[in-house]
Amino acid sequence: ALAAITSCAKLTLAWTDLKPDGIVASPPVLGAFMGQSEITSAAQWQVTRVPALRAAFEREVYGDMPDDYDVAVLSRTMLDNDAFGGQLIEYKLQATVVFGEVVNRTNPFYMDVVLPKGVEQPPIILMETFCPRWDTIPHSAVTRVDGLNSCMSGGIGETVMSYVFGRYIATPPIEMILRHGYGVATTFPSEFVADNKEEGLKTLEALSVGRDGARWGAIGAWAWGFSAMVDVLENDPATAASSVISWGHSRYGKSALVAAAFDERIDAVIAHQSGTGGASLNREKKGETVAAITKTYPHWFASSYAHMAGREQKMDVDQHQLLALVAPRPVLLGNARRDVWSDPNGAFRAAQGADPAYELLGVSGLSQTRLDEWVPSAELAFWLRPGTHGVVKEDWPAFLEFLDAHFD
Ligand code: GCU
Repeated sequence: ALAAITSCAKLTLAWTDLKPDGIVASPPVLGAFMGQSEITSAAQWQVTRVPALRAAFEREVYGDMPDDYDVAVLSRTMLDNDAFGGQLIEYKLQATVVFGEVVNRTNPFYMDVVLPKGVEQPPIILMETFCPRWDTIPHSAVTRVDGLNSCMSGGIGETVMSYVFGRYIATPPIEMILRHGYGVATTFPSEFVADNKEEGLKTLEALSVGRDGARWGAIGAWAWGFSAMVDVLENDPATAASSVISWGHSRYGKSALVAAAFDERIDAVIAHQSGTGGASLNREKKGETVAAITKTYPHWFASSYAHMAGREQKMDVDQHQLLALVAPRPVLLGNARRDVWSDPNGAFRAAQGADPAYELLGVSGLSQTRLDEWVPSAELAFWLRPGTHGVVKEDWPAFLEFLDAHFD
């Protein structure tokens, strides 16, 4: 009974929290910024504001992104000509990343791709998930890497994980995605930067050492992982003209957004429950604070983000400006009513704050005034479902509805 009361109380709180409160993000996305006057034309936005915003996000939140990089394809193998009804191809990759004078190589890592048959240059959903590639694309031919634990080893752990975080937390519905005419490409980011304080920080420092100021953060490194996938796909004749969509849930939702904000080759983004450091505003926020996220996950961000904890009003940027960097490309922000840790309200206000950039660039952005409307054809689409944090059965049909509205 106590548990029922507590969860009812939580639910009520969640509902209260989700009422749009009319606070529009500040500073305005097109207003004065770092010595620049107000932006009034698309050209001015591209030439002056976009680079200034990217630089501010690197300095204050994500750390420096590489000045240059190169992805070497060590091998490309057709693993199965009829996997999930499509073709399964595996690449072994290794990248060189350049930070100023510092040139370093990542560990070798793999990318697995499933392409639908009979579709020329299919749009491809680029994914990073919590689990190794062989869980995201469960096929016996996918190369396993020693030392990386599978999420799908069966037993109680797997049952509990799917129960708590949803049917699709580890494995997306690949057949359904292929039927809609999309391909899937995945890397497991821990193969190049581990999601762990000690090891992750060690790798990030080694890769970007010698850099003044902001060290590369893991969210930025994983975001770069999406760009690395684009590099490989655009050099392969089967996918050279494919559109690409970055997709991620939660921490990888943050990375999927950063990827699209920094790499204009990414045609759209689906950031599901990306929360703090993703789509949710830093100022006036609910749920996870900047202090909380930077304490638990110091390797995710530049140390400057931790220094802004409690001083969010003094930050040069806020997350609506990250969404604005994706304009005019389509963005879907996925949310759940009881996932207050991710602050859906803050994500909605960020979408409101980014909207003027979409309008300036000639498309209408957010087409809803409430969190619980659903306009999949909107350029700035906001999906809110019941329930909590995870990738559940209703999510993928919604993601595909959004993609079909934009890529069919
Ligand atoms: C933690 C973290 C969030 C993150 C989430 C996830 O809850 O605090 O910021 O989004 O993990 O990746 O699932």
